[in-house]
Amino acid sequence: MPEQVSRRQPGLGLSEAKEVRDAKGATGDDGVEDDEGVKGEMGAKDVGSAKDAKTDRGNDDAQGEKGRTTIAALLRQTGLPWREARRLLAEVLDMSVTWLIAHDQDVPAPPVAERFHALAARRAAGEPLAYVLGWREFYGHRFAVSPAVLIPRPETEGLVEVALECLAGQAEPRVLDLGTGSGAIALSVALARPDAEVWATDFSTDALTVARENAARLGAAVDFAQGSWWDALAPAQQGGFAVIVSNPPYIAADDPHLGRDGLPHEPRDALTDGGDGLAHLRTLVRGAPRWLRPDGWLWLEHGYDQAETVRALFAEHPGWRQIASRRDLAGIERLTGASWRPDGVAAPSYNA
Ligand SMILES: C[S@@+](CC[C@H](N)C(=O)[O-])C[C@H]1O[C@@H](n2cnc3c(N)ncnc32)[C@H](O)[C@@H]1O
Repeated sequence: MPEQVSRRQPGLGLSEAKEVRDAKGATGDDGVEDDEGVKGEMGAKDVGSAKDAKTDRGNDDAQGEKGRTTIAALLRQTGLPWREARRLLAEVLDMSVTWLIAHDQDVPAPPVAERFHALAARRAAGEPLAYVLGWREFYGHRFAVSPAVLIPRPETEGLVEVALECLAGQAEPRVLDLGTGSGAIALSVALARPDAEVWATDFSTDALTVARENAARLGAAVDFAQGSWWDALAPAQQGGFAVIVSNPPYIAADDPHLGRDGLPHEPRDALTDGGDGLAHLRTLVRGAPRWLRPDGWLWLEHGYDQAETVRALFAEHPGWRQIASRRDLAGIERLTGASWRPDGVAAPSYNA
């Protein structure tokens, strides 16, 4: 059985991290990670390059010789937090943040400065940094993101960890990620367990396009299917999954968090069920038994105040065993799961 304590590192790094994490977690933009570890997984930008950054040094850090603007001056002009501005300029130059710091008196070519100002303006207008950059790191991989998909959150890495723990010792297991978005969970599992048969579904065809592109770029073998929750699957898949995971839309429609911290830029259907936030969680718990093999696990991410309710949803049927919740590093019960062993008890007839 999986351990109850997550070893994940904290992710948001926001001044109001707890409050924000309580909803879905903000886009995490103040906690921008340096990208040295995953650099190179995505292709180079066609705008700007290291060659574009002049190596002559300015005599102050506002303007270089002949009125050209240095890297240091460009960064200051945006008014963005220093780390974000550096991250954006590093992206435009297709260089690391470390390189940027060491070259802050260099003078980028005008197209680089123009591209940087355009991205900085989008960020200053409130667009999440991940959308401006076009990617977000998750579980050590770089995932392309667009406004068609939720920006993967650090706390969701817990679903990958618990899935891998449940799969330990099983050869060629079948795994299902429902509501895959960018594909972050499914692809991370597939890359960690190449022998697994991993399926990923989403209601949104646009999200599936992003997920498929990520799978192709990262070399992850994942099968995709479109449809609403269980409807995306073929009847022949019933009783076959060793692990099912999902991070469904669980924010209540009247939650004020939906209106701030970048969430208005993300797909509303990825954040809320339009009601009390529990509808999709209910659909997943009630529908999972017919798709799990005996002793298979269902693990769900949910809101900060939903763990008890989700445990109660599992407890509605005696076939669910080992019902447990896991805390994230903020101490919030963030994931709840259970294993399915019917022992002669019929699976619920609920059909989503
Ligand atoms: C919170 S996002 C999670 C995305 C991704 N798994 C992640 O953790 O970053 C929820 C996802 O569920 C999808 N979704 C919403 N309603 C759905 C439904 N009825 N059936 C299947 N997927 C749905 C959304 O399109 C979105 O991609």
